[in-house]
Amino acid sequence: ALPRDLEGVRVVVSAGGTREPLDPVRYLGNRSSGKQGYALARVAAQRGAAVTLVAAHTLALPEPAGVDLVSVSTAEQLGKAVRTAAADADVVVMAAAVADFRPESLAEHKIKKADDGSAPVVTLARNPDILAGLVADRRPGQLIVGFAAETGDERGGVLDHARRKLARKGCDLLVVNAVGEGRAFEVEENTGWLLSADGEERKLPLGSKSQLAATLWDVVFQSLRR
Ligand code: PMT
Repeated sequence: ALPRDLEGVRVVVSAGGTREPLDPVRYLGNRSSGKQGYALARVAAQRGAAVTLVAAHTLALPEPAGVDLVSVSTAEQLGKAVRTAAADADVVVMAAAVADFRPESLAEHKIKKADDGSAPVVTLARNPDILAGLVADRRPGQLIVGFAAETGDERGGVLDHARRKLARKGCDLLVVNAVGEGRAFEVEENTGWLLSADGEERKLPLGSKSQLAATLWDVVFQSLRR
């Protein structure tokens, strides 16, 4: 049996990948399946936490028992749902892959192919950074965890890049996932590093997404008790 060490702790986890509509049938999306976020929510609930799971396009996954599930689609909707739930949460974990850009305008009808063979040009607009907003508006004592999907390897500067991202985003912990070549997205296992704002760094060995979740909750639990 798992320890009930998160009893009384209110957590918000975001999972999955947002979709930004271009017209009624098309969208810009990403490869997140939601598996890592669901594992985080499931393990937290098993350890006694009160969990709100904000999920974007994770319909293929079974709903974890004992969590409050909010389904969303776009980055805007995900941001709204996470901010609402974060207003009385002790911990927020942003495992969702949130679109950085959206099509600037949403076509009312399906975009048709032009007779002259030309392709349409799509102008993108920036989406706000939800994680940075959470950090700016955080409740006293609230712990905020980000995830980062980075291509490349250790020698390729993934960690330097992630350290800068941690500083820029201002969160307390950052899980760094090396992605590409069948890693992290969609698969059952995950690996990477856990960086903490106080400079602590640990390698997360390759293991199931539930194992990575358990390690993260151990570190969160220790930070909350400090
Ligand atoms: O879902 P799976 O298939 O299991 O895959 C898991 C995963 C690889 C998607 C997950 O572990 C992961 O790494 N999630 C974060 C992916 C990501 O979007 O990274 P990023 O570097 O673009 O964003 C960094 C952080 O900022 C993330 O916490 C993200 O939620 C947040 N963000 C990003 C953009 C934005 N506009 N607002 C945000 O809050």
